[in-house]
Amino acid sequence: MSEALTMPKDFLWGGAVSAHQVEGNWQADGKGVSIADVMAAASREQPQRVVTDTVEAGQVYPNHWGINFYQTYPQDIELFAELGLKAFRTSIAWTRIFPNGDEAEPNVAGLRYYDDLFDRLRAKGIEPIVTLSHFEMPYHLVKKYGGWRNRKLIGFFERFAETCFHHFDGKVRYWMTFNEIDNQSDWRNAHHLYQDSGLQLDSNVNWEEAMFQAAHNEMVASAKAVIAAHKIDPQLQVGAMLAMVPIYALTANPGDQMLAARAMQYRYYYGDVQMEGEYPQWLLKYFDRKGYQVPISAADRATLKAGAADFLGMSYYFSFTVKERADHKVEFDEHNDLVDNPYVEKSQWGWQIDPQGLRWILNWIQDRWHKPIMIVENGIGAYDHLEDDGHVHDDYRISYLRAHIHQMELAVVEDGVDVIGYTMWSPIDIVSASTGEMAKRYGLIYVDRDDSGHGSDRRYKKDSFAWYQQVISTNGANL
Ligand code: BG6
Repeated sequence: MSEALTMPKDFLWGGAVSAHQVEGNWQADGKGVSIADVMAAASREQPQRVVTDTVEAGQVYPNHWGINFYQTYPQDIELFAELGLKAFRTSIAWTRIFPNGDEAEPNVAGLRYYDDLFDRLRAKGIEPIVTLSHFEMPYHLVKKYGGWRNRKLIGFFERFAETCFHHFDGKVRYWMTFNEIDNQSDWRNAHHLYQDSGLQLDSNVNWEEAMFQAAHNEMVASAKAVIAAHKIDPQLQVGAMLAMVPIYALTANPGDQMLAARAMQYRYYYGDVQMEGEYPQWLLKYFDRKGYQVPISAADRATLKAGAADFLGMSYYFSFTVKERADHKVEFDEHNDLVDNPYVEKSQWGWQIDPQGLRWILNWIQDRWHKPIMIVENGIGAYDHLEDDGHVHDDYRISYLRAHIHQMELAVVEDGVDVIGYTMWSPIDIVSASTGEMAKRYGLIYVDRDDSGHGSDRRYKKDSFAWYQQVISTNGANL
């Protein structure tokens, strides 16, 4: 990298995971079944994970074991401290606190587990950053209530959120409500509807309309959580969490440009609602034109306004590109309208690698929502090779992270974007959310476990571990 850039003094350098991708021990201490627990593993070639309703013999359920973090967290936190993390993002498995989601009282053993996790992090000077719902809602809420299309879930989530805010007050200051709530903008993909909203839809239902209905309920629930948090402790900061993906036009053709602009509006209306508390006009018109029933009451509008998020948590992995549709319609269909960008490379899983897109999107966010930003995920899934001597030479991971961190630093130092933290994905190998593979590795620490769940679980520091350690110790000056 050319010149060294100096980041703000209290910048939160960290690492991120989610509960269902690391904890395993899916039935320990009264935990209920989450939507991730009944999702079988897939592969790079056949990425669609199958939801099996019950646990079926012959299927592989990688979230049942994760990386056994439920038991290994004390030792893993030692490694995170050695790495120098100032922040660690994880999620609370909803099913450890309310196993079915609709109970009146929480499961004390679940609360105790997270008490100890957060205490140990704090003891090492690591700030916990916690997502309430990261693709792991109780499966019971899907089966009995039909997922987030049912408004009853607003109350269940509120209870869960309030319980956590109360119980962990003094231990956790930064919260986020729903992880990557905007993934479901690709509503033709059943996986996203299920992971984001617990929707399992028949073909006679309009999936797009159902997505908008479910997302509305989630955003009202999120706003209620923000309001509750501020009542419990005005110091609490509650963020929205979006997967930020710049969507470029393929060319300067005005038709390409118009579709790219609409695609950005479509994918980020969740941000407009959560960050500003208002539905954009173009979308209300779209609902009318399509005849969609999305019951947005006056009370909901007031809640959304009062419960606007304090900051934006975001992930960044890749960018998208679109070109004008053959029918010239200015309607974005993420499943069908994306084209390859000839200017960027791809990862082994076909994800476009675009470091500069991070600077682009950070500027876009700052101009649009005017609130602090925390990058809570950024990293590359790759095949790693554990050498006989215990080394993993992952220079490709270092290159990816270095280029992205550099662009973030340019956004902060040169453009003045208010980024308060960066928790890379992830400090340790995890189970992939989209495919359920272990082989799609993200970590700075290698975990000896394979796709079928076999392995010693031993941890090995990859080359990227030492590299990130010096990034943090120089406050990002030495990339
Ligand atoms: C984000 C999720 O979508 O991307 C994580 O918040 C996920 O849970 C990460 O692991 C990387 O995606 P994947 O599918 O490669 O694990």
